[in-house]
Amino acid sequence: MSYKIAIIVGSLRKDSLNRKVARSICGLRGDNLDCSMIEIGDLPLYNQDLDSNPPEQWTRFRQQVAAADGVLFCSPEYNRGIPGVLKNAIDVGSRPYGQSVFDKKPAAIVTASPGAIGGFGSNHQIRQACVFLNMPMMQQPEAYLGHVTDDSFDEGGCLKEGPLKDLVTVLAHAFHDWVEMIHRSRQLLAEDAAHAAQGAKEHA
Ligand SMILES: Cc1cc2nc3c(=O)[nH]c(=O)nc-3n(C[C@H](O)[C@H](O)[C@H](O)COP(=O)(O)O)c2cc1C
Repeated sequence: MSYKIAIIVGSLRKDSLNRKVARSICGLRGDNLDCSMIEIGDLPLYNQDLDSNPPEQWTRFRQQVAAADGVLFCSPEYNRGIPGVLKNAIDVGSRPYGQSVFDKKPAAIVTASPGAIGGFGSNHQIRQACVFLNMPMMQQPEAYLGHVTDDSFDEGGCLKEGPLKDLVTVLAHAFHDWVEMIHRSRQLLAEDAAHAAQGAKEHA
């Protein structure tokens, strides 16, 4: 089954490595993951005073995430942490209080860096915020993509054949299965509840 995936890239750079990784993932699962990149560079900084009359960019972003079946974060690490632009997007989507568009959305995180530890610090800061926001977060495979450079991609901007592409392919398959498991489980629980309610009515 095909699922709508909102991809949020934590880099605004035109030639972002993380954007290229995201683009490659979109290609890898073809019909099974219907991916859209959600832009975050135009989101005004989150300010609670604006909740009663939100900027149109916040509304657009919230609607795009709300329409998705799952969220994939692809992000660099800035100074061993989450880039500010991505944290701002998470904050915008999480509010107003009680109306978070991230609530219950299955998610996965990929961090890519030319450095050796593949954005480990950023990956776990994103994870921390998402767990708080009640997003079922895929645990495995973890994706700290180290030693990623422009040379990791072909002229079309997709990952070249090799271990990096192999790992990302495994991740794309696992993420599809994760999103499917969460959605199917919820559907079965809802059917069980409806069945139980019907049974109770008949015995009343
Ligand atoms: C402000 C800033 C801080 C950075 N801090 C880190 C870091 O903590 N760890 C790391 O691996 N790379 C760090 N880098 C290097 C980035 O990994 C590198 O620029 C990468 O290409 C950014 O991702 P992008 O290509 O998707 O834009 C930093 C880069 C910038 C601009």
